[in-house]
Amino acid sequence: MHIVGRILNIIRLSAILGMHNNSIYFCIKYFERMIFVSTFKEILPEQIQDNPFKLIGKDWALVTSGTKDSFNTMTVSWGGVGVMWGKPVAFTFIRPQRHTFGFIENNNYFTMSFFDEEYRDALNFCGTKSGRDYDKPKETGLTPAFTEDGIPYFEQARLVLVCKKMYSQFLTEENVIDGEGVKKWYKDDYHKMYVSEITKVLVK
Ligand SMILES: Cc1cc2nc3c(=O)[nH]c(=O)nc-3n(C[C@H](O)[C@H](O)[C@H](O)COP(=O)(O)O)c2cc1C
Repeated sequence: MHIVGRILNIIRLSAILGMHNNSIYFCIKYFERMIFVSTFKEILPEQIQDNPFKLIGKDWALVTSGTKDSFNTMTVSWGGVGVMWGKPVAFTFIRPQRHTFGFIENNNYFTMSFFDEEYRDALNFCGTKSGRDYDKPKETGLTPAFTEDGIPYFEQARLVLVCKKMYSQFLTEENVIDGEGVKKWYKDDYHKMYVSEITKVLVK
């Protein structure tokens, strides 16, 4: 995918710079869409090969929620995957001031999209700018895609977890056992924890 992505970038750039020909540009976009869309395949959660500590903590993810008409995405590096209530689950921690928070609250589903290193700048952007101020797909070049149920994710991802909320709860001060964490990470904006069933896993 690295090589395909680079070739597409070169073709896209030359189309934009040199040709000024809309039909060629849209053909390329169509070709790009076909490649990205067609290369996803569905696997079971237990078939995921990645180390979750690296995947979430180091590679980071985009958490995306909403509908085709209105959605938002943000970077996360806290969370986990495991098992609860006999189901494969993802744990995510979202502060209430995030624009994405409202989308997650108002929808039953969200996705976690994981990317190759070449998308680090896009993840940095989505982790430092708010969807209140920026159109993140437009600014990063990431292409929104939607499951058959209309749940948003990104075509350039290499791994996507479709997550259905099962349980959510704000972290609270009275439940903190190790106070060091509170001093380091909080003023009064405790994360809300979501435990979500992983209902689909897409990989390239
Ligand atoms: C590497 C990285 C990891 C992040 N992890 C989280 C996280 O796990 N939970 C969270 O609430 N915010 C996290 N953030 C912050 C949000 O991504 C950031 O505030 C973002 O701009 C929110 O966008 P939004 O307002 O469009 O939702 C992280 C930011 C970065 C750069």
